[in-house]
Amino acid sequence: MNILLLGSGGREHAFAWKMVQSPLCDTLFMAPGNAGTAEIATNVNIAVTDFEAIKALVIKENIQMVVVGPEDPLVRGIYDFFLADSALSHVPVIGPSKLGATLEGSKEFAKEFLVKHKIPTAAYDSFTAETVEKGCDFLETLAPPYVLKADGLAAGKGVLIIQDLEEAKSELRNMLVGQKFGAASSKVVIEEFLDGIELSCFVLTDGKSYKILPTAKDYKRIGEGDTGLNTGGMGAVSPVPYVDAVLMEKIETRIVKPTIEGFQKDGIPYKGFVFIGLINVKNEPIVIEYNVRMGDPETEVVIPRLKTDLVELFQAVANEKLDKIELEIDERSATTVMLVSGGYPEDFEKGKVITGLENVNNSIVFHAGTKLDNGNVVTNGGRVLAITSYGNSFQEALAQSYQNIEAIHFDNVYFRKDIGFDLV
Ligand code: AMP
Ligand code: GLY
Repeated sequence: MNILLLGSGGREHAFAWKMVQSPLCDTLFMAPGNAGTAEIATNVNIAVTDFEAIKALVIKENIQMVVVGPEDPLVRGIYDFFLADSALSHVPVIGPSKLGATLEGSKEFAKEFLVKHKIPTAAYDSFTAETVEKGCDFLETLAPPYVLKADGLAAGKGVLIIQDLEEAKSELRNMLVGQKFGAASSKVVIEEFLDGIELSCFVLTDGKSYKILPTAKDYKRIGEGDTGLNTGGMGAVSPVPYVDAVLMEKIETRIVKPTIEGFQKDGIPYKGFVFIGLINVKNEPIVIEYNVRMGDPETEVVIPRLKTDLVELFQAVANEKLDKIELEIDERSATTVMLVSGGYPEDFEKGKVITGLENVNNSIVFHAGTKLDNGNVVTNGGRVLAITSYGNSFQEALAQSYQNIEAIHFDNVYFRKDIGFDLV
């Protein structure tokens, strides 16, 4: 069958790499894709949120499945758009409905869902410009640090963690009254701070049954030792070594099962990935967020460890037959290290020529922000390449990635040399 995959990052290159290995996949179209996906799929220059152009492409190319990488088209309702159109309704969309995507699109909606279904999460309350003074009173009842979350999508920047009470109050006013994050912060969730180690749990569901994918941990800060500004993610490791069977059992019974049952009880159509952000507080897993897509760069370590045919899995999701499939996982560790443009996550330059890719051995290079320019692969974003390797331990896998990175060059390249530092 012909398949369309929406997105242009490392996550989507990893999906594409896996999907084209499936005998079920004839032509893989990507909108818009990048220089890496151009080598294995047909890139089409359409934005992920241009639903009319996507519709035209699906009809013209006889596309029989659409897989959605990023959250934006999901939050804007691409699942419902397909279902409501008689020319498209036979084409399954892998991704949740607009209602399901609200779990990522609104922190308040997610918190209400968590509380309603008795899933462990940090205590919270939410406030608007009208109730900003009540929000300040609420802050007074909490111990520092204070966690302020813009309700809506804020490109990963909407969470503030502040030590000082007066500063927290002032930022709350900034968000609610000063529109610090625009409409996304017209509502703010204030949350109890959880002290523990973060990890992510990835689930694929057909709305009824589910499969838990390998665990992964990403490294969000730009600087070594987890310092400096937040980024989309500078590297990742799978599996997370400290997650044992006991913790996994708690995550499944207390969090994953009630989440999928919650979709059914609340009538939320959900056929896609659920990315559950957790903090492990003294071996008690507590949810800090839902995302309605896979993580990036976590996908670049999770998908390479999946031995099962990904297209077959997606078909089972579409047909609600996921319970009929057994997941096969590679026992080895996988790690990825992101090469980013100097200056990222603040200002950086694009268009730098990337060389040396042909000298990489025994690692997989997933392109994130790249494009083709006169036959050259050039940088086209903050995060540029994810270098993924396997190993019998994550240290062995990392050594492989770092060795191959030495072969790759572009102006002002930066990467973290300490991925996995906290796991030893
Ligand atoms: P989120 O977008 O909800 O994942 O928040 C971004 C980051 O803020 C997370 O990756 C955590 O590092 C941190 N964070 C979010 N909520 C909390 C919390 N309740 N306690 C401690 N850290 C948090
Ligand atoms: N790596 C974190 C995310 O994809 O949101």
